[in-house]
Amino acid sequence: MVKNIGALLLGVLGGIVAIITVIPGLIFLWKTYCIVTGAAGGIGKAFAEKFAKEGFNLIIMDRLAEPLVELKKTLEEKYNVNVVDYVADFIAMDKNNEWNKVEELIANYDIGVLVNNVGMCNYLPGKFGQLELKDINNMISLNIRTLLMMTHICIPKMEGRKEKGLIVNMSSSTSGYPHPLIQVYSSTKAFVRQFTDSIYAEYKGKIDVIAYTPWYIKTDMTKIRENAIYALTPSDFVDYAFRYFGQQNHINPYWFHYLMDIGTSTIPEAIFSKSVIKQQTFVRKRLQMKLEQQMAETASKKTE
Ligand SMILES: NC(=O)c1ccc[n+]([C@@H]2O[C@H](COP(=O)([O-])OP(=O)(O)OC[C@H]3O[C@@H](n4cnc5c(N)ncnc54)[C@H](OP(=O)(O)O)[C@@H]3O)[C@@H](O)[C@H]2O)c1
Repeated sequence: MVKNIGALLLGVLGGIVAIITVIPGLIFLWKTYCIVTGAAGGIGKAFAEKFAKEGFNLIIMDRLAEPLVELKKTLEEKYNVNVVDYVADFIAMDKNNEWNKVEELIANYDIGVLVNNVGMCNYLPGKFGQLELKDINNMISLNIRTLLMMTHICIPKMEGRKEKGLIVNMSSSTSGYPHPLIQVYSSTKAFVRQFTDSIYAEYKGKIDVIAYTPWYIKTDMTKIRENAIYALTPSDFVDYAFRYFGQQNHINPYWFHYLMDIGTSTIPEAIFSKSVIKQQTFVRKRLQMKLEQQMAETASKKTE
């Protein structure tokens, strides 16, 4: 009897110790939020899904309500996590200096991860003088200022945490080489990489900061649909990306893209630039034809 009571007491004590040690860890996991910008499509959506799968709660941000609400529903049902959807056009938000809205939104959440994914490229590749001023400003606003503002808002929250924070920045392979005809886009991505390298050193040990510099991923941005070794699906890219958190300041996480980097670095710059001009001129012509076709279709519908 005495022996049984002793065993019972020991069991209860063990249970209490287990609850005290395990539950805070679980609460930490449940309550940690990951912010993903541009989460409704492409790479952002794949990051949101992967973090949800890993048990993180999410704040997903994008400019259209419908795909965001749909994603929130899917992730909550599939992974049993909390998902906050926030509809925001970051270009408009930047123009109106409404960043306090993001500060207010996240004030009561424990932010452990920020994925600065949102970005855009000019629709029609072209020489710098041919670019619309609106496109230039929008790229600076979305690819640079949005990333800076989101990072500036989240860093104090991450610094205040007991655990490490993580900031993921989407740069691009275009950041490393001259990219005529998409010169502003590639320069914004070079900014992202350079900025990441600097703050990686500033916050080492407290916040892991990493920039990814991939080549081709099959999204609406690239409009690549075919299966090819050089073009990854967003979810495959994110699977590769997840292997490198906390390890490096910038990286091309997919081995074939890494080989493409090595190959490119051996090509003289003038030859590489020429090949980019050829490729982007082809893209420009194809998109111009598409635009003309669309305009002709609209005009014929109007006359019907
Ligand atoms: N795809 C690639 O091969 C590749 C390679 C290297 C780096 N990257 C970088 O990876 C990131 C994601 O690229 P992606 O290919 O996934 O792009 P994407 O397919 O165009 O998706 C971007 C997402 O951001 C949203 N978005 C666009 N403008 C916005 C704005 N002003 N405010 C709020 N949300 C906005 C888009 O919404 P809408 O659908 O409504 O436009 C979309 O959901 C970008 O920073 C890009 O530069 C991509």
